[in-house]
Amino acid sequence: MSKLNDNSSTPKHHILITGASSGIGAALAEFYARPNIHLTLWGRSEERLEKTAETVRAKGATVATFSIDITNAESAIEALRKADDEAPVDMLILSAGMADIRPQNALAEATDTVLKMSMVNFATPVAMATEMAGRMAERKSGHIALMGSVASFHDLPLATVYSGSKAGIGRFSTALRAAMTPHNVKITLIVPGFIDTPMSQRLEGEQAFLVPVDKAARKIARAINSGRGVLVFPWVFQLTRLLEAVLPRALAHKILRRLEIMQHPPAA
Ligand SMILES: NC(=O)c1ccc[n+]([C@@H]2O[C@H](COP(=O)([O-])OP(=O)(O)OC[C@H]3O[C@@H](n4cnc5c(N)ncnc54)[C@H](OP(=O)(O)O)[C@@H]3O)[C@@H](O)[C@H]2O)c1
Repeated sequence: MSKLNDNSSTPKHHILITGASSGIGAALAEFYARPNIHLTLWGRSEERLEKTAETVRAKGATVATFSIDITNAESAIEALRKADDEAPVDMLILSAGMADIRPQNALAEATDTVLKMSMVNFATPVAMATEMAGRMAERKSGHIALMGSVASFHDLPLATVYSGSKAGIGRFSTALRAAMTPHNVKITLIVPGFIDTPMSQRLEGEQAFLVPVDKAARKIARAINSGRGVLVFPWVFQLTRLLEAVLPRALAHKILRRLEIMQHPPAA
């Protein structure tokens, strides 16, 4: 438990959540909010962050918000060090992420978008988790949760960088768990299917086994609290993963190339 400099003598559990201005990150902030909790909430939109902050304050938690663009990994690391120096972080939840697909009629994904996506979905969370793991290992306690996706199970022709970045986060998380277990630092990889958030709402068409965001947050928090290594949900995606693994790759690719997905532009 961390002591916070908020004139209260009661030690508070400090949880830092990235992507807390929307979707899963905001729902997790709301889930964890209670009087003995201090939440540090990161996102880009100050307005959306303040909305989450209001909800968690109403539940009795103390809160600090921080508007940051994590395509800049150096700034993110500096801000993480500062937050942890002020009050040691007990739990780091790295939920920020972006998704994108190949634009219609383009032969490949847009280079500037894939560079951003590589930072937001992979490079920055990996650097933040590594920095935090080292600090938590010294303290012999702490928990880090990272957000993968069932997209990482498949060679998605329309979303090569999204599926690739999430596959990278997946391998990194389980490797970090192997490294951190002797130091009493827990690592949890969350691998969701479709969750009803602004990210999935950008996509047009049927989203199989769509999960409401509050239900997803409860499931994720249960997995984190029990110290689980990997949570894949809904479980049916374990079957699609198995199916792709047993099919000859050329045949799997032929099927995957038929997937047609359209997306709306991101909200401002
Ligand atoms: N929803 C799904 O179906 C689904 C499925 C599998 C995995 N996931 C993963 O779950 C995580 C959360 O997604 P979500 O559904 O909650 O999406 P969301 O509602 O779109 O929220 C994304 C969050 O990430 C933040 N973010 C995006 N780019 C950022 C940047 N450059 N710098 C700082 N923060 C940035 C956003 O901040 P602002 O809003 O302030 O810009 C927002 O808080 C992501 O990692 C996503 O890949 C989602």
